[in-house]
Amino acid sequence: MNPVPDIALQLYPMPGNQARAEALAARLGPAVRTAGLWLHRFPDGESLVRVQPPEVAAALVCTLRDPDALSVPLLMAADTLRELGAARVGLVAPYLAYMRQDRAFEAGQAVSARIYARLLSSHFDWLLTVDPHLHRIDRLERVYTLRSRVVHAAAPLARWIAAEVAEPLLIGPDAESRQWVADVAARVNAPMLVLDKQRHGDLDVSSRLPELSAWAGRTPVLLDDIASSGRTLAVVLEQLRGRGLAPAVCVVTHGLFAGDALQRLREAGAARVACTDSVDPPAGVERIALDEELARGLPELAGLSRESQP
Ligand code: R5P
Repeated sequence: MNPVPDIALQLYPMPGNQARAEALAARLGPAVRTAGLWLHRFPDGESLVRVQPPEVAAALVCTLRDPDALSVPLLMAADTLRELGAARVGLVAPYLAYMRQDRAFEAGQAVSARIYARLLSSHFDWLLTVDPHLHRIDRLERVYTLRSRVVHAAAPLARWIAAEVAEPLLIGPDAESRQWVADVAARVNAPMLVLDKQRHGDLDVSSRLPELSAWAGRTPVLLDDIASSGRTLAVVLEQLRGRGLAPAVCVVTHGLFAGDALQRLREAGAARVACTDSVDPPAGVERIALDEELARGLPELAGLSRESQP
């Protein structure tokens, strides 16, 4: 009989991340276990974090949608684990916030990507994330000083599209999306085009769709890394009307779907919307699971032995 391996890593889910942590632990075997973390909000808005005392190395599991509300308790949890003796403290954040503000677009603006990177880097030893918005900052290491590993959603996105969409035509809504669209298009062997986008405000976006008659009969698949207000995708959907293509599908890596985003996408003509579970997809959005990719990315980063390699 094989002895039960010693525990090597405890995964502490922040509220809302329990299923994510359990799925990861299940893939990594008995040396990786979930542990308790409790968050109390006082009536005045301050937080109190409590953790199950760590026995070995620890990692917090916390996807960073709504980062402002999450970050203070997250950092308190990290420091508490360290004070209680955790050998190392890592962070599994499938969606990494604040990467889009990668420069000061107007004088006096904060470069949030850099500042947030400094904050997380000073509290964690390592970071595992999924396709962060790398654009003007082209590598996470340029701003994050902790050890980091980026896993990619391209393979699961491509598998979903290949299984679910006949004759896809991949459309990237802006220049930034080219990297992801090109990768997925090559995997599903589909034609692609990338549009120019102008953003005039949070909810005000314009772009122009070219002549599409060469693609008649294909299914447009709008692919982007993030859907936040949904306006970037909605403006493309609206222009697809009456162009002789099949009803459009939206596929995104990080489905933030703020406010009325999903309703806007439906009204603009999205027949289906799918996203990865880097952020829990809302009702009506099809889920593309990422736990296999995350589980493959974690062992080396967390210093786990071969037995924990999925
Ligand atoms: C920006 O470059 C990103 O890749 C997305 O296109 C953007 O964040 C989408 O935002 P929204 O859904 O608010 O238009």
